[in-house]
Order: sequence, then structure tokens, then C-alpha cells
Amino acid sequence: MNKLTLQTVGKAITHDSAEMHVSGSAHYIDDIAEPAGTLHVAPGLSDIAKGILKSVNLEAVRSAPGVVAVLSAKDIPGKNDCSPGFGGDPIFADKEIKFHGQVIFAVVATSRDQARRATRLARIEIEGETPNVQVEDGIQSGETVLDDYTFIRGDAPGLIEQANSAISGTITVGGQEHFYLETQISFAVPGENRTMKVYCSTQHPTEVQHLVARTLGQPDASIVCECRRMGGGFGGKESQAAQWACIAALASRVTGLPAKMRLDRDDDMVVTGKRHDFLVEYSASHDDKGVVEAIDLELNGRCGHSADVSLGINDRAMFHSDNSYFYPNLRIHSRRIKTDTVSNTAFRGFGGPQGMVFAERMMDQLAIKLGKDPLAIRKRNFYSKGRDVTPYGQKVRDNVIRQLVAELEKSSDYKNRRRQIAKFNRKSRFLKKGISLNPIKFGIAFTLMHLNQAGSLVHVYTDGSVQVNHGGTEMGQGLNLKVAQVVAEEFGIDVSQVQITATSTEKVPNTTPTAASSGSDLNGMASKKAAEKIKKRMVDLAARLFQADRKAIRFINGKVELGDREISFAELANQCFIERVQLSATGYYATPKLTWERETVSGKAFLYFAYGASCSEVTIDTLTGEMKVDRVDILHDVGSSINPAIDIGQIEGGFVQGMGWLTTEELVYDSDGRLSTHAPSTYKIPTCSDVPADFRTALFASKGNKANTIYRSKAVGEPPLMLALSVFSAIFHALASINPGKVPDLDTPATPEAILRAVDGMNATGK
Ligand code: MTE
Ligand code: MOS
Repeated sequence: MNKLTLQTVGKAITHDSAEMHVSGSAHYIDDIAEPAGTLHVAPGLSDIAKGILKSVNLEAVRSAPGVVAVLSAKDIPGKNDCSPGFGGDPIFADKEIKFHGQVIFAVVATSRDQARRATRLARIEIEGETPNVQVEDGIQSGETVLDDYTFIRGDAPGLIEQANSAISGTITVGGQEHFYLETQISFAVPGENRTMKVYCSTQHPTEVQHLVARTLGQPDASIVCECRRMGGGFGGKESQAAQWACIAALASRVTGLPAKMRLDRDDDMVVTGKRHDFLVEYSASHDDKGVVEAIDLELNGRCGHSADVSLGINDRAMFHSDNSYFYPNLRIHSRRIKTDTVSNTAFRGFGGPQGMVFAERMMDQLAIKLGKDPLAIRKRNFYSKGRDVTPYGQKVRDNVIRQLVAELEKSSDYKNRRRQIAKFNRKSRFLKKGISLNPIKFGIAFTLMHLNQAGSLVHVYTDGSVQVNHGGTEMGQGLNLKVAQVVAEEFGIDVSQVQITATSTEKVPNTTPTAASSGSDLNGMASKKAAEKIKKRMVDLAARLFQADRKAIRFINGKVELGDREISFAELANQCFIERVQLSATGYYATPKLTWERETVSGKAFLYFAYGASCSEVTIDTLTGEMKVDRVDILHDVGSSINPAIDIGQIEGGFVQGMGWLTTEELVYDSDGRLSTHAPSTYKIPTCSDVPADFRTALFASKGNKANTIYRSKAVGEPPLMLALSVFSAIFHALASINPGKVPDLDTPATPEAILRAVDGMNATGK
């Protein structure tokens, strides 16, 4: 790929909505002008986590001021389920209560305030039972939402038992609230003859369309779902935007009026699923250099009350428990634990980060045991020639981790700083520093095969402006701009000439969710194919009209060069209309070469891997548990970037979100299964003051993705979140300096309380 020939792709162009975001003029669902008569919907929630519904008295609710309708399970004409596949997610609780905050009914009123107030008047009787809340409770009860799944190579347990050198441990990995700035919202507008348009803040408009249709008992074709943009999704609007769309649609169907449902922040935090928390138990054998011989791993993921998308998430935790390391012998066993809590769901990384916490903990623990630099241990375990087959049988063929880590080691001055930190720690009694350089490797593709496809619809108008409708959704990640760049490149026009429209199921049907970081891989390619079709027709016409040599025709700078003459792109577009040449086309792309077979644990699960590394330095206060990230250096591989500005934004944003997950964001459930941390007052996401003061992000100088992706770029949405693992490791090593040789007892998130507890543990006598 010769970069010099590209005009628009590869340029650091500002996000198309950046000015609108900061000036407040970007349209979100709640900004859509409300037609006269618009009603508002609020959910009535269960105050008990587990039990049987004995009676539901909604009389007082019905007669409250402003109330137009009250909805419950019996009002649903179709199916009372909004699950993405496995079932078990009732829209309204029917007989059984499965978690605290489950929706039992909904109030439709003339104002949102009235609807919310009325919900409080319900008299509901539930015969309560003791809920299983924590992952340990779930393990003990033995209940799971899906079958166990295992990867095996060699006799790992046997080898570990006979080994001279082995380690073992347990680590709990915390969950995470998405905290998208725009809470879940849907707005249903009825059309004639039972048709309906549902505006929804969703990563998966097609699934919303289908689930609304199923709820109403109507064909898919009678429903349109549209999403202009989301105020963040982060996985939380992949499957779990649907319930609110179904309720809004039902409210609209019952009243015949437009109906909007926007969740209050506290409700949103209680009633929607989060990142799965995990209990990880492991043992491993190794040689005296710290090279791993065998691992035996139990991944217990807390799924909550239903399966939702937990199959893919728990699989991905298994897929990424190797991070960048080769395990010659292994047993990786995954249990999908059922608890009486909200159903956990997709969150940036989709289980991968949780699996990688294990790999990084193991390396850190080995380093402490052997008294070695953890980076040296990591390097010894990197995938390399002859040691390149993953636990799921795919060969790693595009490995750049060794080179990438070597470059970051140099540019971050890791060795020197590590020495200085050791010196600092010897002198400093209460403040302790830590530094860590960690790699990441992340597999790109949906492991559910059929999701790896996308469609696009491109129109060229006679003034030379272009409209693109693709199946992906914009959630701030810059997908629309990247796709616009691809289309602008094809036509040789400025990106400002390309208008990306709202995602709509009536323009591109049967789409897959914008997830697994594959939005630009899939929709970029589908849109390029659509644009190529139109361009070919334009070239055919130009060659005929102007007797030009096809090979000499070039689309560049808004012009079409025809050998010895040129015309503007707009003129040629207009000529196409005059000559009756179609200026509209669809494009379709299905990711090639994926052959993953889950049953036999074989084939190719990922098209390629994204790589990166980060080096973090932290200071902890051993008297208070406070922690500060002093400096972060990142080197990340995005292949040939379509837009370096967008990619760096994704890397920095992902890193900070990962830092929040690993250090400050703590979900606390009480023993009755109620979420205690359901507002920003008690749940601490990172703020701008938490961004490292010295934050250096660079893109790896790549020759381009080896896989034939759109302009040889690499997916960037999720992988950088895992770069924050170096912060967690750095804290671990700061703690380790208190009592060299002893392994700190630190789980995620490493909150000040957790750090302080670990400090106490380090100071306690004995090893
Ligand atoms: N970036 C922003 N600003 N907002 C988001 O909601 N979601 C992340 C990531 N980056 C997200 C984001 C997640 S979970 C995914 S899967 C990808 O974006 C999806 O978009 P992509 O496939 O186009 O990268
Ligand atoms: Mo992202 S968790 O795949 O929506």
C-alpha cells in the first residue's frame, strides 16, 4: 500500500461532530423535536432481588395525575422477551422476580416527571427468597446460565502437580458500569397502518427492530429503527438498549401516540447489566527462567440472572487469557455463573480484559518469586517461532509484540527509570513507586461467525455531493468519519462532500451490531465496495463520452482527469444522470478466512491481532492508600491508520476508561442484592484530573495490517482499554517493594482501600 497515493485516507481529520459535540448542537434522541401529544414512559421496578410476584395493585398508579396508561406483561400482544438470543429476559416480570430493579410495569404519562412520580404509588407484593449475589454464592449454588467450556492442550494439571517450580493464586476482577453520558433512551413514533419508527440509542438497530416487531407481534418490515448517534455505548447498548425500545413501542401502540422512554441515571445504573466480574483461580508450572510450562485456569464469570451475550464474553475471556504469551500445556475452564442480579453484558473488551488480568498477574507473580524484572519474564514467554499456537489452535502469524515492546522500552527509558524507582523506594518510607511495561494482544473478529458481515448504500447526487448509509452506528468512536474518508478517497473528492446519514434499518437491512471493534473494518469495506460500483459506471461513461483511455482516468481533487482534459466530479455525476447511468449502489462485505468451530476448538477465530504496549509509573501512599499515575507511555499498533487523530483519541480514551475499571470504579452490592453504588456520588469514574499528567501516546510505525483490511488499517475501539493493565501492575510492584519477595494481595479494582489493605498485608509478618 503506497501511502503517498492517498488523498484523504490516513489524514488526521477532526471528528465530523466535534464542533457539534462541544457546542451542544449534535442531535441525540432527546433532541428530536417532539410531535404534539408525545407521551413519556417511566419503569416501575422491583425492590426485591428474588421472589415470586404475589400481587400487583396498580390502581393508585392509574389514577395519578397525568397518567394515560399503565403497562405490564399482559399488555404485550407478542412475545414478552427482549433477549438477544438465548431467552430469559422478560420485558416485564411476569411471575418470577430475578433481580433487584427488574421492570414489573411501566407508566405512560403526559410528562416524564408525572410518569416517574406515579411509579412510586404501586402496591406490589413479592414473596422474597434469599438471593445469590456474589460470584462465590453463584459458584456454591452450582447454577450457571450456559454450559461450561474448556480448552485443553497436554496434561496441564498433571504437569503442575509433578513440577519442581509452580505458583498458584486467586484474583477477583471487578465489574464496571458503562456510564455512557446519554442514558438508555428510545422514542417510538407511530405511522399509518400499524407501522412504527423507533429512534433508539443503540449499537444494534436491526436487533431493536426485530425485538420491537416480536413484542408487538408484527412483521419486521413494519418497523424502522434509526440511530443518528449515541452519547456513548461502550457495549452497554449492544443488547440492552432493546428493552426500552420495546416498552416505548408498546406505549405507542397502546395509546396511538408518540412515546419516549429515557432512563434516569440511577435507574439506568440499577437496571442495566455491567461488565462481568470474575473470580479467577489458577496454578502454573515454570522453569527457573520463568518460562511457563503449563497453566491450569478456572474462569468464573458472573453473568447475572440470564445469558444475554455472556457466551461470547466468557469465550473471549478464555481467548485472551494468553494475552501475548505461549502456554505449551494448558487447561482453561470457563464457568458462566448465574446469580440473582442484573444480567451482565458487553463492555469494551468483551471479556478479553478479564482474561488478560490473569496473564499479567501470573507474570508479575513469577517475577517476584524469581526476583527478576517482570518485563524480562514477559519477554521470555512471548509468542515466537515454533511457540506460536494459541490455546484455541490458531497460529499467531502477525506477531509484532517483540519489536513493539523493544521500541517502547527504549522510548520510555524503562530500564533507567526502574533503577531510579528502586533507589527512591529504598529511601522513601511512606511513598512507594512502581513501574510496569505490559503488552497487549487482542483478536479481531466476532467469534459468533455470522456477525462478521456488513452492508452499505451509497448515493451520488448530480451536484457531486455524496450520501453514505452504512450499517454501523456512531457512538463517538469516529466510525462515520472513517467511512466518509474511505468513500471520499474512492471518488477523489473532499471528505466534506460526503454526508453520512443516520443509521436506519430501512436503508441497510439485516445488519450486525457495531461491536467487537470491527465497525470500520466491516462498514469501511462494504462502503468502499458500493462506491467502487458507482465509480466503475462513471468511468465507463467518461471513457465512452470523451473517448478517454480508461486506464488514464483518475478521480482526484474533486476532478476527473481524462488524459489530456479534465472535468469536475460534479459535471461527470450530472452527465451520468443525463445519460441514464445509475448513481446509487449497495455494497456488501463478509470477513473472509474465518473458520472457527466452537465445538471442536479449531479453525481460525480471528482475522488478525491488534497489538500494543504501555509503560506506567505510579506512586502510592502507604499511609492512606492514595495512588497517582505519574507518567504513561503508550505505543499502539493500528496498522496503516485511516485517521491518526481519531485513533489516538480512541487509545487515550480507552486507556483512561481501563484505568477507571482497574483503580477507582467499584460496584458494591449489599447482601439483599441491591446495588449500593448507583450514582456518581458513590461510583467513581475517572475525571479529567485523573488523566496522567505526563501522557505520551504514539502509533507504532506499521507497514500495514498483514490481513487485507480496509486500507490495511487495524481495529482500535477496544484494545487500548487493556493498556491500563500496566497501571495495575505498577501498583502491584510499588506494593511489592515494601517487602521484597512477598506477593501482594491485590484484586481489581485497586481502590485506595484495596491498596491500604494490601499494604497491611505486606507489613504483616510471615510470607
Ligand atoms: N468510543 C467512544 N467514544 N464511545 C463508545 O461508546 N465504544 C467502544 C469503542 N470506542 C465506544 C468507543 C466499543 S465497546 C467498541 S466495540 C467500539 O468502539 C465500536 O466501534 P468500532 O467498531 O467502530 O471501533
Ligand atoms: Mo464493544 S464491548 O464490542 O460494544
